[in-house]
Amino acid sequence: MAETSTTPVAPGQVPAHVAIIMDGNGRWAKSRGLPRLEGHRRGVETVRTTTFAARDLGVKVLTLYAFSVENWKRPQDEVGGLMSLLEYYLKKELTTFVRDRVRFRTIGRTADLPANIQKLLQDTIEATKQFTDYTLVLALNYGARTEVVDAAHAYAAAVAAGRENLNDDSWSSFNRYLSTADLPDPDLVIRTSGETRISNFLLLQAAYAEFVFTPTLWPDFTKADLAAAIADYNRRERRFGLTSEQLKPAPAR
Ligand code: IPE
Ligand code: IPE
Ligand code: MG
Repeated sequence: MAETSTTPVAPGQVPAHVAIIMDGNGRWAKSRGLPRLEGHRRGVETVRTTTFAARDLGVKVLTLYAFSVENWKRPQDEVGGLMSLLEYYLKKELTTFVRDRVRFRTIGRTADLPANIQKLLQDTIEATKQFTDYTLVLALNYGARTEVVDAAHAYAAAVAAGRENLNDDSWSSFNRYLSTADLPDPDLVIRTSGETRISNFLLLQAAYAEFVFTPTLWPDFTKADLAAAIADYNRRERRFGLTSEQLKPAPAR
């Protein structure tokens, strides 16, 4: 997977996999004198609109960073509020996903989420697993370092069981143990709210991704903002270690 997903993309092509660090809900609420949770509530609406905006624009996989392993350290009422919103979102979206043929899946340690949420996640994944055209991935209790540790454990267990060869140093073998094993690498990573950091998101998978940072706060993020980020992506040349000349087709003789 990793090898195929790092094939250079011709200019003008839509990124197959867009990943978004949805940030700025708290600041959106604060600037209006509202509780932080109100910002998260509006953020859920943006999740809805962006899911369909990305598909309209030709994206095949959309990954949304919804809750990090570090976010548990937020005040308890905010964490509880986020879990309730997730429950509300999943209950409401299941029929929409089935109707609109959206394959739903998750990355992250979902086994640590409340039991009712785990059940809803499983039901949604199960009900949408037959769809192939468009995938929405929610990163929940996700952290890239945690993911690497989990993958290293699984890989070590596979070596011990004789299913992997310790001398195999190919990325594609190790990649199978990441939670994104069957997904292409993200082509474009967007972060809203003006922060220019990656915050433990898809560190390995984004090795050759293009990054777009926008000052727009997540609740205000629109289809036009997504289209602008994709247009920005299209103006760039992804070289994957090669020279610019190597990527240009040889002139006709
Ligand atoms: C992103 O918005 C949502 C989550 C991380 C769950 P924030 O809640 O981080 O918003 P800011 O950064 O405080 O504005
Ligand atoms: C990153 O946002 C996590 C999610 C978007 C879920 P944070 O707001 O938690 O990131 P930091 O703490 O500002 O780096
Ligand atoms: Mg934030």
